[in-house]
Amino acid sequence: MERKTIYLCLAHMSEEGWEQKYVKEAFDTNWVVPMGPNVNAFEQDLADFVNHKDSEELDRKVVCLSAGTAAVHLALLACGVGPGDEVLVQSYTFCASSHPITYLGAKPVFVGSEGETWNMDPVLLEKAIIDRKGKTGKYPKAIVPVALYGMPYRIDEIMAIADKYGIPVVEDAAEGMGSRYNGQVLGTFGKYGVLSFNGNKMITTSGGGALICRSAEEANEIMWYATQARDAYPYYQHTAIGYNYRMSNVCAGIGRGQMKVIDAHIAHHKHVQALYEELLKDVKGVHIHKQPADPRYDANFWLCAATLDPEVKIKGQENAYKEVIKTAVGGAAGVIHQVDSATTDCQPNENVEALRVWMLDKKIEARPTWKPMHKQPVYADAPVYTNGIEEELFKVGFCLPAGPYVSDDDVKYIVESIKEAME
Ligand SMILES: Cc1ncc(COP(=O)(O)O)c(C=O)c1O
Repeated sequence: MERKTIYLCLAHMSEEGWEQKYVKEAFDTNWVVPMGPNVNAFEQDLADFVNHKDSEELDRKVVCLSAGTAAVHLALLACGVGPGDEVLVQSYTFCASSHPITYLGAKPVFVGSEGETWNMDPVLLEKAIIDRKGKTGKYPKAIVPVALYGMPYRIDEIMAIADKYGIPVVEDAAEGMGSRYNGQVLGTFGKYGVLSFNGNKMITTSGGGALICRSAEEANEIMWYATQARDAYPYYQHTAIGYNYRMSNVCAGIGRGQMKVIDAHIAHHKHVQALYEELLKDVKGVHIHKQPADPRYDANFWLCAATLDPEVKIKGQENAYKEVIKTAVGGAAGVIHQVDSATTDCQPNENVEALRVWMLDKKIEARPTWKPMHKQPVYADAPVYTNGIEEELFKVGFCLPAGPYVSDDDVKYIVESIKEAME
């Protein structure tokens, strides 16, 4: 039988078909709008999920939005970020952590990672805060740490620094849905917490996101901005610029169904990670990105990330980067700009690229890690505080498939394929 492609992380619906039941309800009751019973119930399900802590219950409110990117945008807006402000954001991340800063006319200041979690380095964070105050005369308006591939950041240290300087934290937990630190769900530590339900995330609504807020008042303010910021008149009166960012009641139906399987999804991601760790432990030159031994860390392992030592030779390495890519890595063919060179001045090592190509040939999707934002041409002028760790990790790092569709057999096949790729 021909092998199916093993993708990085695919949407996975409940076997009972809960998602379709709630979506059908939306149609049956004609709530086919960006509000309604599914949205309300999904928000409650999410609040119940994030509020559950080992020792106590929290009281966070959750607002469903059209995307995680919208959640970052509105969180920053609610922190008062505006033209001329600066926001400190982890450099090693997907672009949606930093782009919304620019939507508000503010400037991102990138902070490098430390080597253990691959996330924001608290030492660099404090250095950046002090230096920006010295250079601009004011403190940055917000701090955005990112749970890269689901790994919790150094939350205690980051929160202590944020409190010391009175700067709000917007946790980008888009990849870290259900990751915990000290028994508490990521996204509930900061002033706001961002979740994403894009098709490749821990749970999906096809596309969607949510913002975790600290109070009903703050949640209402976010909802107001997400629904075009209208004032209470019989006609449309506006005292602020709003956005059309609310979640559709149809999508929320999918989300309600997904909440019934989220614990099983997280357990499966952890199982796949443990299997990779076991099967790759004796493969020289390949190192799985593990969570710190500190028991407070409890990652969801959204994707399995790893590094490849520069001296490892991969079959076909001599051909790496010889051809200009014609289709997007990750399935965005048709919507990416064509380029005329095969290389840039900051890219994964040739053996990492050769491994990606080798795996693709084996019908396995392996992907480079996120290219640090301060190395992106679009952010060429942005200030950066780094020790170079994320740039080094980007050269040697790659991601392997995880998630409910990845079977034990798939993991064994993936590991065998990596071994075969080595010369
Ligand atoms: C780190 C990070 N932040 C934000 C987002 C944005 O989420 P969305 O795709 O739902 O807009 C994503 C994922 O897409 C992400 O990986």
